Amino acid sequence: MTPDFALHGLEVEYRHGVASLHGIDLTIARGERLAVVGANGSGKSTLLKVLDGLVFPTAGAVSAFGRPLTEDSLAEPEFRRQFRGSVGFVFQDADVQLFCANVATELAFGPLQLGLDPAQVRRRVADIAAQLRLEPLLDRAPYTLSGGEKKRVAIASVLTMEPRVVLLDEPTNALDPRSQAWLLDLLHSWREAGRTVVIATHDLSLAEEFADRVVVLSEAHEVAAAGPPAQILTDRELLLTVNLIHVHAHRHGRLLHGHAHAHGEHRHADG
Ligand SMILES: Nc1ncnc2c1ncn2[C@@H]1O[C@H](COP(=O)(O)OP(=O)(O)OP(=O)(O)O)[C@@H](O)[C@H]1O
Ligand SMILES: [Mg+2]
Repeated sequence: MTPDFALHGLEVEYRHGVASLHGIDLTIARGERLAVVGANGSGKSTLLKVLDGLVFPTAGAVSAFGRPLTEDSLAEPEFRRQFRGSVGFVFQDADVQLFCANVATELAFGPLQLGLDPAQVRRRVADIAAQLRLEPLLDRAPYTLSGGEKKRVAIASVLTMEPRVVLLDEPTNALDPRSQAWLLDLLHSWREAGRTVVIATHDLSLAEEFADRVVVLSEAHEVAAAGPPAQILTDRELLLTVNLIHVHAHRHGRLLHGHAHAHGEHRHADG
């Protein structure tokens, strides 16, 4: 089957001579659940923006659904409609995504842009709002919401477009433990729907629970490793090398010793 995405020798430079992604070869199968992990600045968000056709490679190639994903191909109305109707992107920062006067308008915006019938859009908005417990927020202005509420609205505003592919950048940021559990349930429920899901995160426990495959980006903006979570996330040397865990020395009484700590969680990667 044609993969949803294929990246070959991909280079991204925002500034000439400064790589943000380097030599990336990556294929994402239809229905795959992929976690992209890496330290701050390794290129996770950039990779997701490439997959969403927001950033284009300086060299190399990217294709989506078997078609080259370029500024030119996206300028063709038919491919543009197919691509934008199939791929949803939840930004790392919800503030850049939410711009409507209230949450109800926000949720309706995407499907209306896609040209859906307004009555059908109203039904979708009501369904998604119920599913994501957003009904009490529908008439609120997005800028008045808490960080976690904004994140839920940002996710909902993508889901109302019923995308077959969902890209989520740091989806658990700003979510409290209960909302994180809710997000995991939501992600699990998408498995049956056969959605392709790509998450960028440095939350290794999220990657472990969610992904079929983990791709590790190094601080040289390359793929350092890719494989099943059980293999990648137990590789302490690898995780130390790419700075996803760090050795933290501290004292218990008079005894000084070191632990490897994962960022953003309390689990010790070693004993
Ligand atoms: N618009 C831009 N212009 C110039 N440089 C950029 C731009 N966006 C990102 N970069 C640079 O590209 C590199 C990768 O950034 P990116 O945002 O993809 O990293 P990230 O892995 O998502 O990091 P984080 O964990 O902090 O979200 C960084 O060095 C960053 O400074
Ligand atoms: Mg990022």
